[in-house]
Amino acid sequence: MTAAQGWSKSDWRAKPRVQMPDYPDQAALAAVEAQLGNYPPLVFAGEARRLKSELAAVSRGEAFLLQGGDCAESFAEFSADTIRDTFQVMLQMAMVLTYGAKVPVVKVGRMAGQFAKPRSAPTEVVGGVELPSYRGDIINELDFTPESRIPDPAKMLQAYTQAAASLNLLRAFSTGGFADMHRVHSWTLGFTDGAGAEKYRDIATRIQDTIDFMAAAGIDGGTTHEFSTVDFYTSHEALLLEYEEALARVDSTTGLPLAGSGHMIWIGDRTRQPDGAHVEFARGVQNPIGLKCGPSTSAEDLKVLMARLNPENEAGRLTLIARFGAGKVGEHLPRLIKAVQEEGANVVWSCDPMHGNTVKANSGYKTRFFNAILQEIQEFFAIHRAEGTVPGGVHFEMTGKDVTECTGGVRAVTDEDLSDRYHTACDPRLNASQSLELAFLVAEELSAGREAKRAVG
Ligand code: PEP
Ligand code: CO
Repeated sequence: MTAAQGWSKSDWRAKPRVQMPDYPDQAALAAVEAQLGNYPPLVFAGEARRLKSELAAVSRGEAFLLQGGDCAESFAEFSADTIRDTFQVMLQMAMVLTYGAKVPVVKVGRMAGQFAKPRSAPTEVVGGVELPSYRGDIINELDFTPESRIPDPAKMLQAYTQAAASLNLLRAFSTGGFADMHRVHSWTLGFTDGAGAEKYRDIATRIQDTIDFMAAAGIDGGTTHEFSTVDFYTSHEALLLEYEEALARVDSTTGLPLAGSGHMIWIGDRTRQPDGAHVEFARGVQNPIGLKCGPSTSAEDLKVLMARLNPENEAGRLTLIARFGAGKVGEHLPRLIKAVQEEGANVVWSCDPMHGNTVKANSGYKTRFFNAILQEIQEFFAIHRAEGTVPGGVHFEMTGKDVTECTGGVRAVTDEDLSDRYHTACDPRLNASQSLELAFLVAEELSAGREAKRAVG
């Protein structure tokens, strides 16, 4: 039970709100909210509960969380291919991680709802012209014109439609045989043939051997359910609370409120004020909740937030997503781990190595260095090993497309390459090959963790 007594889905309106648009046309806003309120929810309570129980296993070290997808989903980039490619690379990563961790991997997309963006400044200046910042396709438009930047509530309807179509395709991919192991393993050819990929070839070969062995033994999944279907969940930052409220529903089996917009929702680093609107909304819905923890998260605030968001201390309810930046994990993670231990709180610890590592390249593009991303992950694992706590998962901004937004990796993207295929609507994403390479490196950390545990135990 997580529903706060007496909570109502509109209570957030009485709390201080940040990072949300002021809609100039209130009548249009009300009409959209009423319309969305009559639409079917995108996800169902039983699914959110199942994800929660899988995250409970993650919190005990019996499963591993892989969360990933776009920084911001875009109306312009919406296509079946985009969804398929991201889904496919996540399955490939999950297979590598499963091999390293020897536990099931819980797959959660930043998909089918990841449209609203918090921004570091309310306005943007280009060539001496100042306009309101772009806040994601669900709110306004990226074009740098005064009209494009006016928040338009009708965009919520388009986002809902895109999310529904995305989920429809993801559900089809998950159960329609697309996830079949035979399809998933063909990647070993492409990626590991590249120069510099020797270290990945060995593990890829071993995975291939395992699949061949299973095929020979008649347990290859041609007909076996477990190998031809996959559980794939959706998540996004619950930033635009008018949208979230309009899609909130009461689950008929438990009578508890549910965010119907996605299986898991999270609270961003800029909207986690304990007395603010975003925490107020999230505390009342029964979905698994993510909470971004950055360098400014105090131990005191974390304790208040854990009590508010997970008063029953239910395992799987709360995922703490650490995003400090390479070189800063040692300064911040131990004090937050201590706060969790002092409260005896059940949490999943996940590592977002993206948001603390955004830099401006010489070319002017916003980018992230592959090595900084990797370093933050390694620091995260090392600290959990030292503290004896569970490094439960990773959270990536990534795409299945061959974009050039982050630099580095074995198929190195250089500073000069950034302009080639820089397509993100917001932050720089890992491309398919960089994502897979990171999965191999995380798998190494996971198997080192298992070795260490075996040595102690
Ligand atoms: C994000 O995940 O896209 C994001 C904005 O993260 P954070 O709140 O951690 O900055
Ligand atoms: Co981002």
